[in-house]
Amino acid sequence: MEQYIIKGGAPLKGEVTISGAKNAALGILAAAVMSDDDVLIENLPDVKDINVMLEAISEIGARVDRIDRHTVRINGRTISDISVDDEFIRRIRASYYFIGALLGKYRHARVPLPGGCNIGSRPIDQHIKGFKALGAEVRIESGSVIADAEQLRAAHIYFDVVSVGATINVMMAAVMAEGQTIIENAAKEPHIVDVANFLNSMGANIKGAGTDTIRVKGVEKLHGSEYAIIPDQIEAGTFMCMAAATRGDVVIKNVIPKHLEAITAKLLEMGNEVEEYDEAVRVIGAARQRHTDIKTLPYPGFPTDMQPQMAVALSLAEGTSMVTESIFENRFKYVDELSRMGGNIKVEGNVAVVDGIEHFSGASVSSPDLRAGAALVIAALAAEGYSTVEEIGYIQRGYENFDEKIAALGGQIRLVDSEQEAKKFRLRVVG
Ligand code: UD1
Repeated sequence: MEQYIIKGGAPLKGEVTISGAKNAALGILAAAVMSDDDVLIENLPDVKDINVMLEAISEIGARVDRIDRHTVRINGRTISDISVDDEFIRRIRASYYFIGALLGKYRHARVPLPGGCNIGSRPIDQHIKGFKALGAEVRIESGSVIADAEQLRAAHIYFDVVSVGATINVMMAAVMAEGQTIIENAAKEPHIVDVANFLNSMGANIKGAGTDTIRVKGVEKLHGSEYAIIPDQIEAGTFMCMAAATRGDVVIKNVIPKHLEAITAKLLEMGNEVEEYDEAVRVIGAARQRHTDIKTLPYPGFPTDMQPQMAVALSLAEGTSMVTESIFENRFKYVDELSRMGGNIKVEGNVAVVDGIEHFSGASVSSPDLRAGAALVIAALAAEGYSTVEEIGYIQRGYENFDEKIAALGGQIRLVDSEQEAKKFRLRVVG
């Protein structure tokens, strides 16, 4: 089984380039099948979730030409099946975007209920509420969502919870509906704006993405487009926390600093230095860092996808920090693993009380999910001694070349798939 072996203690130093945003790419790839013309998508991250999504797209009959690692051309004219195959799609949660895309284009969709990271109960009632408001009949049969509409008509939709997935999904379904749809209490994450910009580049008429109210005027059809995906805010934030936790000095390139403000603010409160450039941020980790509190909230609040990584950084700060998780109830599964490395975190309900420690010590730990896995790698890089991080398949779902990017910053990390290789690494990195 593949795992990372890490020798901690080296401050990370240098430059790292951030890949395209996975969560934007998932929405954009689904939306791409809505046109019958060629759509060229650039700055695609080369990660497992994206590759599964591309397999699913070709499985339904669309043409998928991978031009290079980060560029793909998709043509949805040849789609022969509005029923997405189980095997591929159950592996990723964002498969639900096919409901909005196929319903919007063909007025029919059959998609298995989503899998993905197990970070709490993740209902899709708001998605379904939106599709129904647009005139679709939606039912769940043998584990699949089946949506059908004679005709899609614009509607005024008010979401009861702020949901990234429901906002993107309903926006896609409304793009070719008759009339003007208004989505209220919409999510405002950068990838919502990116998906809306992409749909507009194909001829859609969407206004207000990035605010609470999105207006979608239905158009007859969508044409081809060329589009580059925004940088990944969460990958960037992960490297920012890594720089702080290892007391390093890292320039994180190809980012939109505005998207990182919530993370920057917290690192500054802790006493770190953060310099902002046009398309880069530099994080210089302070030797002594202070506690602070975080509470996850929809954008522009502190992202839930950065909660575990920040909790690791806070573990190495002086004093007691409160980490409140208000989006997903099951997102503290990394705490038990961190305590094996000497972490001192107590979870009470949706609050983790993080007591600062001097240092982590190396241990063998296992990733419970994607972002928690990244957090454990940060802890291992800051720890004294060797660690192994198992179940790295989760990490590879969302981070491109994670170990290589870290190694280029001087982190001592190696992907190994046998005990023999692990031994070799230990012998090579003596001390
Ligand atoms: C997306 C991201 C995920 C991130 C999350 C929150 C993708 C592929 N994934 O997930 O990485 O952690 O946003 O920023 O972009 N909810 C409902 N009913 C619904 C939908 C959601 O009650 O129909 C609730 C959820 O249980 C959760 C909250 O709304 O408590 C937010 O979920 P949502 O924004 O939908 O997350 P995802 O789109 O699944």
